Amino acid sequence: MEVVILPSAAAAGALAAQAIRELLATKPAAVLGLATGSSPLPVYDALARMQAAGEVSFSHASAFALDEYVGLPADHPAGYRAVIRTEFTERVDMPPASVHVPDGQATDLQAACRGYEAAIAEAGGVDLQLLGIGSDGHIGFNEPGSSLASRTRVKTLTELTRADNARFFDGDMDLVPRHCLTQGLGTIMESRHAVLLASGPGKADAVRAMVEGPVSARCPASVLQFHPHATVLVDEAAASKLELAGYFRYTYANKPDWQGL
Ligand code: F6R
Repeated sequence: MEVVILPSAAAAGALAAQAIRELLATKPAAVLGLATGSSPLPVYDALARMQAAGEVSFSHASAFALDEYVGLPADHPAGYRAVIRTEFTERVDMPPASVHVPDGQATDLQAACRGYEAAIAEAGGVDLQLLGIGSDGHIGFNEPGSSLASRTRVKTLTELTRADNARFFDGDMDLVPRHCLTQGLGTIMESRHAVLLASGPGKADAVRAMVEGPVSARCPASVLQFHPHATVLVDEAAASKLELAGYFRYTYANKPDWQGL
């Protein structure tokens, strides 16, 4: 796991966007894994700028979202299908048919989850998976206690996650669905490169548990310690509780140019 401490969330977003641009330069039909919430927004902003400048194209790429709420109307602005579209895919040249989101309105949710896994496999797997981390240590919506081998399935959101996400529902926690579909930790672990972004003091405990704590379902993100290529991009506040912060800074400052992220 590589931890890079950056001066701001925007700097972290720019670095992740650069990794995506480099991936697309060598593999135009790359499969991207997309996160929603606040953390990836600087990445999407940077990619939209690169697209406008003609520096990148998503015309052959495809994307799979991490998760979706169960039961929200298809056009609900807080639904992740809408968020992915407005925050990212309609700002770049990725064909809408190449953007996949779990179907939280399916009458058979379990079949929808199986179908989602099959679609990811058929696409050849995810090349680069963007991730945020919940203040309770979740990635995707794999809440504490999630099997480290889990696949796409229905999960129940914690009250903490529902409270954190109430800001996308006019501040009313009662409007936040209780259930979601999420890629499992086993699914996420199969991505070829996992890039997690975290910023702000509210993420400092979760980041410490993920990076320096034991690998445990108590902090689902800690499973990334077993990922062969995981990159954690954090701002100073999110890094503020890392014991090894000095070593992470030293390592990045001395990183060979050829290595990339
Ligand atoms: C969203 C997702 C979640 C968020 C996490 C952090 O697709 O999978 O794991 O990444 O809840 O959310 P923010 O970035 O809003 O703090």
